[in-house]
Amino acid sequence: MLSPLILVNLKTYREGMGNRAHMIAQAAELVASESGVTIGIAPSYIDLHPLSHHFSIPVYAQHVDGCEPGANTGHITVDAIKSAGAAGSLVNHSERRLSLADIESSIRGLAVHNLISVVCTNNELAGAGAAAMGPDFVAIEPPELIGSGVSVSKANPDIIRRSVAAVHAVNPRVKVLTGAGIQSGECVKIAVDLGTDGVLLASSVVKAKDPGAVLRDLVSKL
Ligand code: G3P
Repeated sequence: MLSPLILVNLKTYREGMGNRAHMIAQAAELVASESGVTIGIAPSYIDLHPLSHHFSIPVYAQHVDGCEPGANTGHITVDAIKSAGAAGSLVNHSERRLSLADIESSIRGLAVHNLISVVCTNNELAGAGAAAMGPDFVAIEPPELIGSGVSVSKANPDIIRRSVAAVHAVNPRVKVLTGAGIQSGECVKIAVDLGTDGVLLASSVVKAKDPGAVLRDLVSKL
């Protein structure tokens, strides 16, 4: 494995918009360059282009539609996020669930444009199903722990272990992230020691008084 990926989803938190999004991206860029760990950020669509333009860290969309460019009012196409500078996109986040057909078309659209797909699922069974579609990453996040401040690494390390095994049994090339409640270097280390390629997280960084300090702690045990 190269470097684990720490992917920070800004969701639609007020603390993750506009100037705050820039401040978090700047802190992430600094900590990534100090530590050598890959830190990505998934801002709202509005901030996608400015952040990808100003910062060197990978910037992800929070969702993408698999449809082609054309008459699709209100949809977010892969072409649109690519031209905004995105490195990839979350797909099927717990707060933006999709049908199986939509997940497959989003993964395919991202692959056609050489963008990274991160498919989110709730457990190892859904994770194995997602792996069958050949995304770059599957991210397992138990929904009940999302935003809870209770870390999946500590509350349910078994689901991480089972998910890594289930995903790799289907497709060993698919990388695995885990998330929900991740907040410290210790949480990240447990996740990586259990075989993941990194973590997906939000509130502990986005809502922090000093997001840079939290990011520094997150990479501290790698
Ligand atoms: O996308 C990351 C997420 O759903 C986990 O959120 O706030 O528990 O880190 P949080």
